[in-house]
Amino acid sequence: MTDIEELLLSRIRDVADYPEPGVMFKDITPLLADPAAFTALTGALADVAARTGATKVVGLEARGFILGAPVALRAGLGFIPVRKAGKLPGATLRQAYDLEYGTAEIEVHAEDLTDGDRVLVVDDVLATGGTAEASLELIRRAGAGVAGVAVLMELAFLNGRVRLEPALAGAPLEAL
Ligand code: PRP
Repeated sequence: MTDIEELLLSRIRDVADYPEPGVMFKDITPLLADPAAFTALTGALADVAARTGATKVVGLEARGFILGAPVALRAGLGFIPVRKAGKLPGATLRQAYDLEYGTAEIEVHAEDLTDGDRVLVVDDVLATGGTAEASLELIRRAGAGVAGVAVLMELAFLNGRVRLEPALAGAPLEAL
């Protein structure tokens, strides 16, 4: 394990039985509260943006906003919020995706992504991959290209990586 991986891991708190019994929640607030760890994290994600040739950073509500905005600034790129449905005032593209029980919808302002863009999606956690997959579909529907997906943590036992493969179409998924 690298020094940065060790630092990041040491600042993620496991919370048992949250938000419901049987779930081990990965709490990143200790990491956000530590400037050295937060700087290391956003720097590593900005390196992914540079490596993948991204022209814009998309952050997924809500924790993807906390990480995506500083990553965009550090990489010298624009930041685009992908929000839960009903929160954006302009003309949007909307995408539904399956949850364990029911469905959810996310939206992006259609004018924020153009066919010249290569977009890096940033989030804290890749779990089932449903949210990231829907965001890649929004990017594709906007006519933009996918630079990749970059997350702090991948919960590998949920196989989100496999689910994302078709939507990534060869673009990288990087989990720190
Ligand atoms: C969490 C997390 C990711 C998503 C991952 O967000 O921050 O965005 O779930 O899950 P998936 O891979 O199974 O789609 P959540 O929906 O809890 O929203 P929040 O950040 O607003 O709490």
